[in-house]
Order: sequence, then C-alpha cells, then structure tokens
Amino acid sequence: MDCFSSDEKFNQLYPKEISALASRHWTPLSVAKEAAAFLAVGSNTRILDIGSGVGKFCLIGAKLYPNTVFAGIEQRKSLTQIAQSVALELSLSNTEFLTGNFTEINFAQYQHFYFYNAFYENLIDNDAIDQNVVQSQELFNLYTRKLYKQLKQLPAGTRIATFHSSENEMPSTYQVVGIGSNEDLKFWIKL
Ligand SMILES: C[S@@+](CC[C@H](N)C(=O)[O-])C[C@H]1O[C@@H](n2cnc3c(N)ncnc32)[C@H](O)[C@@H]1O
Repeated sequence: MDCFSSDEKFNQLYPKEISALASRHWTPLSVAKEAAAFLAVGSNTRILDIGSGVGKFCLIGAKLYPNTVFAGIEQRKSLTQIAQSVALELSLSNTEFLTGNFTEINFAQYQHFYFYNAFYENLIDNDAIDQNVVQSQELFNLYTRKLYKQLKQLPAGTRIATFHSSENEMPSTYQVVGIGSNEDLKFWIKL
C-alpha cells in the first residue's frame, strides 16, 4: 500500500480512534506536502512542528525530504508514542518526536517551523482530541504570547508555515510570501 498517495490511506497507519480525528485535527496530505516544500530549504535543516500530534506533518515531510530533520513537540505523550511507532514502521530516521510543552523548547535548535493552530483547543470543547485540556481564554492568550516572543527572537530568513492560524502569534517582522492551494495555509519569512 502506498500510504503517501491519499489521506485515507495515510490515516490507516493510525489506530482507528486516532484516524477518526484526522479531518479535524491532523494536517491534510496536500497541505503537508506544500508546507514541507516551503520549509525544507538549505542544508542541515531542522524543522519543528509546534504541537505535532501523531506526527502527520513530520512523517510526510520526512519521507519527501530525507536530508531534512522533521521534529515535533507534542504535549500528549500518547500521541508522541504513536508518531514514533509510525516513523519506525515507515523506516524514517529523520524524525524526532518529543513529549512536552512547546514553551520548554529552545527554538534556536531549529531553522524553520510549522504551526497548525495548536492552541485553539483551549478555546473550544466540541470535537476535542480528549477531555484532558483546560478550556481557557487566558491559557490561549498566554500560549499565543509565548509563541510570539519565541518567534520574534529568531533570525532573519526564518520560515514558518501556518495552517488555520489566528495570526496573533505572528510578529510584524514576518511577512506573508505565499498562500497554499488551501488558503488557510500561509507561508511566512522573517525580514
Ligand atoms: C491541530 S493538532 C495538529 C497536529 C499536527 N501538527 C498535524 O498537523 O498533524 C495540534 C496539536 O498541538 C498539541 N498542542 C496544543 N498545545 C500544545 C502545547 N502548548 N505544547 C505542545 N503541544 C501542544 C495538541 O495536543 C495537538 O496534538
């Protein structure tokens, strides 16, 4: 089975209950391909997915760009474990999946970033991944501010692909340089 040929096939790599969350929570294949193409530039490049879930973006990027490292930070350990096990199954050695809060990560270890609206789950309670996350506008605001500060410190030339972003986390020093086939996908470069 070529699992990279459609979302339906790719999502079958996951347990049924995880696959059922895909349309709402995991990056579509076409979006992952376009975002990875924008981010996987230069040599020795390390890309961080901020809130990597079950690793869908990283796994697709890693398959397409074997010389680029696709890393993910994810707060739910059970999702990180699933991402790691699919990476093993697909023999992808250029992925790294960490469990933790993105606020604990040193962004300077990475050149470029992917962000699929990870904090939105702090605002809504329908279609949640699980019931383990606090619904709180304050927490959403706090994470958004923390990400803004991290991004602000990064050097000129840093690239970010955002999907369904509120854009409040983007400092004004980042410029939109393109929009994906799906218009919720935006490409940014720091000036
Ligand atoms: C919309 S999903 C996207 C998953 C993955 N990036 C993808 O595109 O397939 C957002 C993920 O971010 C994670 N997340 C939310 N807030 C986080 C935080 N503060 N630190 C780390 N992960 C977080 C959630 O647990 C969820 O798995």
